[in-house]
Amino acid sequence: MQQLDRNLALELSRVTEAAALAAGRWMGRGDKEAVDRAAVEAMRFALQSVDMDGVVVIGEGEKDRAPMLYIGERVGNGQPPAVDVAVDPIDGTGITASGLNGAISVIALAEQSTLFVTPLAYMEKLVVGPRARGMVRLDAPPAENLEAVAVALDREVRDLTVVVLNRPRNDHLIRHVREAGARIRLIGDGDIAASIQVALGDQGVDVLMGIGGAPEGVITACVLACLGGDMQARLWAKTDEDRALAHAEAIDLDRILTLEDLCRGRDVFVAATGVTDGDLLTGVRYFRDGAVTQSLVMRSMSGTVRWIDARHDLSRLRQLAGGRYDGVAHPVPPPSQRAAHS
Ligand code: FBP
Repeated sequence: MQQLDRNLALELSRVTEAAALAAGRWMGRGDKEAVDRAAVEAMRFALQSVDMDGVVVIGEGEKDRAPMLYIGERVGNGQPPAVDVAVDPIDGTGITASGLNGAISVIALAEQSTLFVTPLAYMEKLVVGPRARGMVRLDAPPAENLEAVAVALDREVRDLTVVVLNRPRNDHLIRHVREAGARIRLIGDGDIAASIQVALGDQGVDVLMGIGGAPEGVITACVLACLGGDMQARLWAKTDEDRALAHAEAIDLDRILTLEDLCRGRDVFVAATGVTDGDLLTGVRYFRDGAVTQSLVMRSMSGTVRWIDARHDLSRLRQLAGGRYDGVAHPVPPPSQRAAHS
């Protein structure tokens, strides 16, 4: 398998920073579409300068419905390496539009044809940190899995905190977790950030369970490839249409997908930037002609995780971008200039 020879995660942090800076302007303004549009445009603009020949495999949807960052779109400047790109310009568009906590911008990439693709929108997920790797099974009852995690972490089940997306479809699971005696943190949105917290292992949450977005699940698998946790998943059909689609495409809805099924990459990169304040990352803060962001970048090959606090001089960026963008996306310096600075 082709090995990617640079730490692209560092370059990718510029991409999620750009999306967060653009979308953060729309915080609390009640317009989900504007949040998403700003993030997508900024992310796409910033991606142009990344040295890669990328194809979006997890994106904003099909070409006709998504004008940008659609599945199949080529991104990067066309130079090798050839990579699969998974984007969620904003995980938590509703959160951002309402000014609530926990929205992030995230991107992941891995060697070409190594990320799982599915037309279905949802999957059931079970995510644990590195110490519980190999100890849980999605087809086991929640109480059994919690017992296994408790043993792995040398705790009791009542000491564990389980993150679950607060949706009626997860009510059954929530009941089981409560019966098992674990604590629960219900989240309104944003299960990628919560999964990152579980995988980091020191953030006060130990397991993520329940049905959430499938694209978010694949990005979560990339995170776990970097941080060393574990995950199992199973696609979920929400509607009869989904069931018909699964049938037509011969998708086995009972199949348990392992971490390896979701992300086969050996050199995986993930970058995420806080949009609104959250438990994982601080959101964007603006001041006169500037802003600060906080990002997290990781690479599976080395296992290194970096937190990057960045201060952006928006007036200089605007000048450098030559008015091509509202100053929120990073400009694209010519290659020679970039080489001189690296
Ligand atoms: P968006 O910001 O793209 O709407 O995703 C937010 C999110 O909460 C994800 O974190 C989660 O996986 C998914 O939506 C759950 O889907 P739904 O809101 O349809 O239940």
